[in-house]
Amino acid sequence: MYDFDSKIDRHNTNSVKWSGAQDRYKNPDILPMWVADMDFASPKEVIESLKNTATNEIFGYSLPPTWNKELLKSVRLWIKRRNEWDISFEQLGFSSGVIPALSFAIKATTAENDAIILQSPYYGHFKTLLDDTHRKLINNPLIQNEYGYELDLDDFEQKIVDNNVKAFILCNPHNPTGRVWSENELISLAKICEKHDVWILSDDIHSDLIMPGYNYQPLAKIFKQYADHIITFKSVSKTFNLAGIQSAYYISENLELLEKMKKIRDESFNPELLNSFATPAIISAYSFGDSWLKSVIKYIESNYNFADNFIHTELPKAKVANLEATYLVWIDVSYLNISEEQLLKHLDDAGLGVETSSEFGLTDPHKLFIRMNIATQRENVELGLKRLKEALS
Ligand SMILES: Cc1ncc(COP(=O)(O)O)c(C=O)c1O
Repeated sequence: MYDFDSKIDRHNTNSVKWSGAQDRYKNPDILPMWVADMDFASPKEVIESLKNTATNEIFGYSLPPTWNKELLKSVRLWIKRRNEWDISFEQLGFSSGVIPALSFAIKATTAENDAIILQSPYYGHFKTLLDDTHRKLINNPLIQNEYGYELDLDDFEQKIVDNNVKAFILCNPHNPTGRVWSENELISLAKICEKHDVWILSDDIHSDLIMPGYNYQPLAKIFKQYADHIITFKSVSKTFNLAGIQSAYYISENLELLEKMKKIRDESFNPELLNSFATPAIISAYSFGDSWLKSVIKYIESNYNFADNFIHTELPKAKVANLEATYLVWIDVSYLNISEEQLLKHLDDAGLGVETSSEFGLTDPHKLFIRMNIATQRENVELGLKRLKEALS
């Protein structure tokens, strides 16, 4: 029913993944498998809603999202339907992205020089956020195992105590490792945070892209007793390939905190407005996107199985983490015993544009990782893997 195999030429579409790759990599024939967006068309209902919006011909100020009952209802129903989580309209706030929303939350919950804990390998912009808001980064590295990664709870608690940590940025599911944290894992983390009075900023941007057989739970839903210390961040951007629409939202039971975030946002002249195209995109995606989403997940799963199998047979010393969510394959190539710079050169020479260890806060020179975005046509995945093999050989 959906055709994810046909290539869509994204050159000359103002795409950072495709056009930006020309600046980032040296090889003019680079295959971009870096930035986390998909090479698939969004659901046709979403495209229709955007075309309809364009026919308005006037793009004046939109209704603020918190005044738009249809928008609020679509978000509420989506979360109820997908996550069996009942939220009310006043628990919602909106922003142009998860990263700006996280910055308001960091400022609302902590002060300059306060310590915030992350779990490496972590999404690189988390570090930028802490640097830009002058917060101290405390790292609780995840433990690598045979399948992927697990938590180091002892280290988590120790670091919180030793550094008087005030907030924790949880990434659920986790970019780049692809882990969907289990209920037990989430509750163990939350109990430690509760014990030491640590705010939890839960970035759940990838939480709609769950591979079959895995179960995502929003922490604020399953750990009610501490929900007033949790903010959950979500968006249609990863789910429906709408990152360019520039919209996100956050949820918290703590209305006082939401008010504080709103004040911080207003003071930074970043009002709670969405652009003219964001509101119809969210409403149509959340109203009509279920079947597209189910199919795209199936396609990504089959790309992953293909990639996993290829790497297993062609590059048996490389280790692929289980993909439980999203479309970012995390590959351990430490066996190569070369520097990250050398690795990047080999990859660039072979024409493969991916991200590597240091972008995710990894500094151990003996550990080398590649993150490969497989949300693309199978033909591209095959080409990317061929180039990966060439680069690693
Ligand atoms: C974990 C995580 N958070 C946030 C973002 C970016 O969100 P936004 O574009 O809404 O700021 C990304 C994008 O890759 C991500 O992977």
